[in-house]
Amino acid sequence: MTAGRIITVALGVCLSAGCEAPAEPVSQPEAWDQDVALPLVEDLNPDPNVLEVNLDARLGMVQIKPGVQTETWTYNGSVPGPLLRAKRGDRVIVHFTNHLPEATTVHWHGLQITADMDGSNAVQSPVMPGASFTYDFVLPDAGTFWYHPHMNSSSQVGYGLYGPLVVDDPADPLAVDDVVLMFSDMSLTKDGQLQAGDESGWFGDYFGREGAALLINGKLKPGLKARVGLPQRWRIINAARARFLKMKVPGTPLVRVGSDVGLMEHPQTLDSLLLAPSERAEVIFTPPASAAEGFAVMYQDPNRFGIGAIHPDEPLINLQMVKGGGAPMKLPNPLRVLPARDLTNAHHRRIELGEKVIDGVGYLTINGQTFGGEEGHHEAHAEPMHLAYVGDTETWEVVNGTKYDHPFHLHGFAFEILDLDGKPWPVRELKDSVNVPAGETLRFVVTFDDRPGMWMFHCHILDHAQLGMMAVLQVRKRP
Ligand code: C2O
Ligand code: CU
Repeated sequence: MTAGRIITVALGVCLSAGCEAPAEPVSQPEAWDQDVALPLVEDLNPDPNVLEVNLDARLGMVQIKPGVQTETWTYNGSVPGPLLRAKRGDRVIVHFTNHLPEATTVHWHGLQITADMDGSNAVQSPVMPGASFTYDFVLPDAGTFWYHPHMNSSSQVGYGLYGPLVVDDPADPLAVDDVVLMFSDMSLTKDGQLQAGDESGWFGDYFGREGAALLINGKLKPGLKARVGLPQRWRIINAARARFLKMKVPGTPLVRVGSDVGLMEHPQTLDSLLLAPSERAEVIFTPPASAAEGFAVMYQDPNRFGIGAIHPDEPLINLQMVKGGGAPMKLPNPLRVLPARDLTNAHHRRIELGEKVIDGVGYLTINGQTFGGEEGHHEAHAEPMHLAYVGDTETWEVVNGTKYDHPFHLHGFAFEILDLDGKPWPVRELKDSVNVPAGETLRFVVTFDDRPGMWMFHCHILDHAQLGMMAVLQVRKRP
């Protein structure tokens, strides 16, 4: 993607006053991101402001385990699907065809686009096997996003249907080579084939299915090359259906600069990064002079059930240090200025995540209602609708009344977190997904701009969504 782009070591100096003569240019090592490179998709449209692509969901043979071909579900034949990359303000046209054995849709996770293009089953009919649908929208925000099915999604995403979408900002203040690192996991049988998506039945739904194979861009422990002192910008996406990602670079702090929807207001230095399913982070990784020649980015037990970390750390990415260094950059601060929020006329909404038993079967609920399956049958449409009005600002209080964490996701409208259990959120950032820890209450503020329609919100442990922790918000024009 950006391999070979030259950055100069003078960059950090030049951002502050008194720029000296430019120093030796230093670039990332040759083929630094080759092992994690994602397939590029052909842009069918000559207009530089339009990205027009064919996207085909189909079964495909992919190598996950060494020497084994695994039949997975793919976009355009690969896991993850191709990287779609465009710039803010561009129009994107996706000619989507379903060659899967079952119905699907494509949801554009985190994009603030019109409701009819959101790809959830609340706004479009299923794309049946053999059928096509054209998605056509304009990209309003820069940031790191992704796409995935919104039908039977726990199985479909778990089988490999997910892909990244990067929106560049023409005025991006961070001139650093970047790479997309899309995390997921996969459940494979002994002979390396896909485990059934409904494996272990209700318990699988209730606890959320985690596959043993930890994947970065579809690979087990891929390599990445770096130089001492030369920063890299990692765009990390957690595409796992249930697994939380906790990662650490031993001996090196990560500087988080970006969130779900673009840059944060101020950078945040982290010992380890925690991303719940569907969250994204952009981090600056600068190998310190003390870095060994080869070491690994580690996956750590994220302790999702609050029982303590019991699994030992596992290598996730093999880092290979290449001789010859760069100079660390000085980050602009602020990275971005977010508009002030006026809460004086904000409406208040309370959302409670819970559980209930119907006919001896446990379901997960939102405000006491369980959603009638992602396929949207029965109950879903009979439920009282959550209703909001265009132009309104609302504060949402999301109460987790269960004993497990739930990553809460709202379609279509980015929000800003105010506090978690009364503790002010440490940074200003725009989110579309956030973990609400067991028993805690999270508050955020959201403004409904002029995009009326039906917008889903749900737990992004996709098994939990399947068990009913999902609802629809209707955003209407005020009468
Ligand atoms: Cu990423 Cu409704 O989902
Ligand atoms: Cu959940």
